[in-house]
Amino acid sequence: MKIESSIKQALKDNNATLVAHYYVSADIQTLAEETGGIVSDSLEMARFGQNSDADTIVVAGVKFMGETAKILSPEKRVLVIDDQATCSLDLSCPIKDFSAFCDQNPDHVVVVYANTSADVKARADWVVTSGSALKVVKQLHSEGKKVLWAPDKHLGHYVQSKTGVEMLIWDGACVVHEEFKAEGLERLMQIHPDAGVLVHPESPKEVIALADVVGSTTQLIEAAASRPENTFIVATDNGIFHKMREVAPNKKFIEAPTMGEGADCESCAHCGWMAMNSLEKCLDTLNTGKNEIQINSQIIEKAKHSIHRLLEFTK
Ligand code: 13P
Ligand code: SF4
Repeated sequence: MKIESSIKQALKDNNATLVAHYYVSADIQTLAEETGGIVSDSLEMARFGQNSDADTIVVAGVKFMGETAKILSPEKRVLVIDDQATCSLDLSCPIKDFSAFCDQNPDHVVVVYANTSADVKARADWVVTSGSALKVVKQLHSEGKKVLWAPDKHLGHYVQSKTGVEMLIWDGACVVHEEFKAEGLERLMQIHPDAGVLVHPESPKEVIALADVVGSTTQLIEAAASRPENTFIVATDNGIFHKMREVAPNKKFIEAPTMGEGADCESCAHCGWMAMNSLEKCLDTLNTGKNEIQINSQIIEKAKHSIHRLLEFTK
């Protein structure tokens, strides 16, 4: 039997749904959609799992996405395809140091990016995603609040520059997006002067400054479909090209350069942790029930509060 058929059967047997991020491989994305699951950004992944009737949510992505699903659906079994698949932003923000930083700044509202551990989310007042950060912080600014932001410094600086809010920013970064180079991008823009430039806000500010659209994965895909340009230069993980080509089959997509001194490829923008997801491991996870996300109930209660705020805000 083909592996896809075995996974489809295993999903049925377990009353499970497959929830995938745009950065995982095309075969997993296709399977998620064919089986009634979803392929989306981190915000919609969380929302979908919560609204699903399935008893088990299988998350094809990274650990924080599995944890978010568990926080929102504690009664469900949440399995991740590879429990070693994490995120440099999550790793950069250990709860002990983060908590001390919050304690030192009690007059700031604590806003954390979804790419964090359950413990960090539990310590926060708000959880935001790349697609919602700007709107939430604008609202907090209009209420006269000061913001403590973690962990992505590039997204933090972008939000600060757009809102003018007083902000303390944690020193974390995404190892994939941080590699995009403004100089190389400018050269590519000269070669393709009619191309639209789509940039994820985890990229450095010099790269963001060259963008026509700055947004979450979903926002960039929507821009690729709706904007008039026929060619796009894209600064985000190259897993996204599968969906972009699907929604805009006649358009051309070019990877923004990550090449710099000593680099051995022109664009190597692919998250090594997202790449740990595979169909074989997906079947193994479903058959064995391994890699189940477990979170202490007190942490779930606290973290749920800050994620719910976001879900309500973005409804
Ligand atoms: P999105 O919320 O835009 O999907 O981003 C998640 C992520 O990990 C980006 O690197
Ligand atoms: Fe984390 Fe970056 Fe990988 Fe997204 S692409 S999961 S932010 S390391």
